[in-house]
Amino acid sequence: MQDLLNDLAEAAAGDPDKGEVASYIPELAGINPEQFGIAIALADGQVFTAGDAEVPFSIQSVSKVFALALALGRVGDQLWYRVGREPSGLSFDSILLLEREDGIPRNPFINAGALVTTDTYLAGSSPKEALGELLRFVRAAADDDSIHINEKVAHSEIATGHRNFSLAHYLASHGNLRSTVGKVLGTYCHQCGVEMTCRQLAMAGRFLVDAQEMPQLVSVERRRRINALMMTCGHYDGSGDFAFRVGLPGKSGVGGGILVISPGRASIAVWSPGLNRYGNSKLGTEAMETFARRTGWSVFG
Ligand code: DON
Repeated sequence: MQDLLNDLAEAAAGDPDKGEVASYIPELAGINPEQFGIAIALADGQVFTAGDAEVPFSIQSVSKVFALALALGRVGDQLWYRVGREPSGLSFDSILLLEREDGIPRNPFINAGALVTTDTYLAGSSPKEALGELLRFVRAAADDDSIHINEKVAHSEIATGHRNFSLAHYLASHGNLRSTVGKVLGTYCHQCGVEMTCRQLAMAGRFLVDAQEMPQLVSVERRRRINALMMTCGHYDGSGDFAFRVGLPGKSGVGGGILVISPGRASIAVWSPGLNRYGNSKLGTEAMETFARRTGWSVFG
């Protein structure tokens, strides 16, 4: 495993095309695209890392996985009255289908759907309490109390998040938000600003693996469903491509992180800030494709 991860880090370093760093969030625009890290937490408790696996990055949309687990913990299947479970075939921040589908977002991983899951775990609490709950969940999953939120990234996103504010107002106009737009956006942007290293993210993903050694934070049924949604919707309009090339459930973020689950085997985190045309890590996706080919791991047999 260590040799494989070293090979992936070496291949990434030698690839002249690193992709494009996200520029619409000012705090992310200045990040060096030359970085690449990977970490794997195996079912037997072993952890392997290579490259920049100890460098913290903002997990952005990968946080939507933890938010979904929290929202389901709050309201269970009631959540599905307010958000769907189908791929959107559109970019992560699209507003297009919201109008046609009466303010019910297609799935919890596009931004509109994630605003609904944030609103769900926020209901009845202050943003501070809700974010405290989110951090408690992530820290318990990773067994690491040092995980925190990067306030600069959160505020950079609040200041420039016109698209997300529009989505939230649109949801509110359909009665699909319980808290105010300001509270939801403040909480959502802080959630996206959770910072982790590849090692911490691989550890945090273990609750989705299904192995005795791993933290059991959600029921078996819920774990399977979250994995199913990661497979079908975790990479937005690149989800089909990721399933085709990697064959494992994954959730990406514009910070360049991807969390990948191999059920029964491992939780894997890969990070490289340059993105492909879908807004997912370019080198991260390529590394996972090689990883899946070399290990033979796939949920498709
Ligand atoms: O809301 C946003 O636009 C960002 N905080 C998160 C988007 C994101 O990570 C999309 N993923 N590839």
